Amino acid sequence: MWVRSNTLKLSNFSAGYKPFKVVKNISLEVGRKEIVSLVGPNGAGKTTILKGIVGVADVFGGTVSIDGEDITAKKPEKVAQLGLILVPDERRLFPNMSCEENLELGAYLEEARRRYRDSLEVVYTLFPVLKEKRRQVAKTLSGGEQQMLAIARGIMARPKVLLVDEPSTGLSPKLVSSLLKAMNALSESGVSILFAEQNAYAALEYSNRAYLLTRGEITLTGSSHDILLSKSLISQYFG
Ligand SMILES: Nc1ncnc2c1ncn2[C@@H]1O[C@H](COP(=O)(O)OP(=O)(O)OP(=O)(O)O)[C@@H](O)[C@H]1O
Ligand SMILES: [Mg+2]
Repeated sequence: MWVRSNTLKLSNFSAGYKPFKVVKNISLEVGRKEIVSLVGPNGAGKTTILKGIVGVADVFGGTVSIDGEDITAKKPEKVAQLGLILVPDERRLFPNMSCEENLELGAYLEEARRRYRDSLEVVYTLFPVLKEKRRQVAKTLSGGEQQMLAIARGIMARPKVLLVDEPSTGLSPKLVSSLLKAMNALSESGVSILFAEQNAYAALEYSNRAYLLTRGEITLTGSSHDILLSKSLISQYFG
C-alpha cells in the first residue's frame, strides 16, 4: 500500500518539443526517500519527461507538483529553488575547472551555499575518488569520474528530488554498481531519486519501483523486485 507522502507527482503529463508531442498522459509518483527508475529503449521519451519536469522541454498538458505545490512549466530556476535538480545525460561540467570548483558551482542556491561544507562532506563520503581528485581539472577525469562529479554537483544543490538521466552511460558494470549504491545511500539520507535508464537490469536492481516507457507512454509500472522476478515480463519488454 502507498503510505509515503508524494514528493514528486506527474498527472496526465504530456511533453515534447513544439509542435511535436513526445510523451503522452504520463502519471508518475516518487515518494520521499524512494528511488524510482524510468526504463525504456532509445527514443522512448525518458529524457523528454525529465526535461519537461524541470521546464526545459515544452509541456502540452497535465501537471507536475512537488510536495503538493504545482510547478508545471515553471522556469528551471524556480523549479530548482523548489527542490528539483536534473543531472543531464551530457553532464555539462566546466572542463577547465577543478573537481571541487565544479562542486562549488553546484551549490549555487542560497540554502545550498549555506550548507556547502556539509554537502561537500556528503559527496566525498559517497564518492571518495572525488575527494582524492578534488584539485584535478574536470576534463582530465575519466568518464566514470566525470559521471560521478556530475551527480555529485547535483547533490550539492541540496535537492528534494534528484533527477538523473542515464547514470550508467559509458561506465563499466563495476562502476555502474558503485554509482547506483551511492544513489541508494543518498536516498537513505532523505533525497528522492528518479533516474532514466536504457540498462533495464541495472535500473530494476537498484530502484524501489519502475515505470516502463514505450513510445511515449507508460506501459508497465510496479515494484522493481516484482518486475525482475517475472521472467515473462522481462522477455516481453527487454527481449
Ligand atoms: N530537441 C528536440 N526536438 C525535437 N524532437 C526531439 C528533441 N529531442 C528529442 N526529440 C525526439 O523525442 C523523442 C524522444 O527522445 P528522448 O530523448 O526523450 O528519448 P530517450 O528515451 O531519452 O532516448 P535515449 O535512450 O536514446 O536517451 C525522439 O523521437 C527524439 O527524436
Ligand atoms: Mg535519453
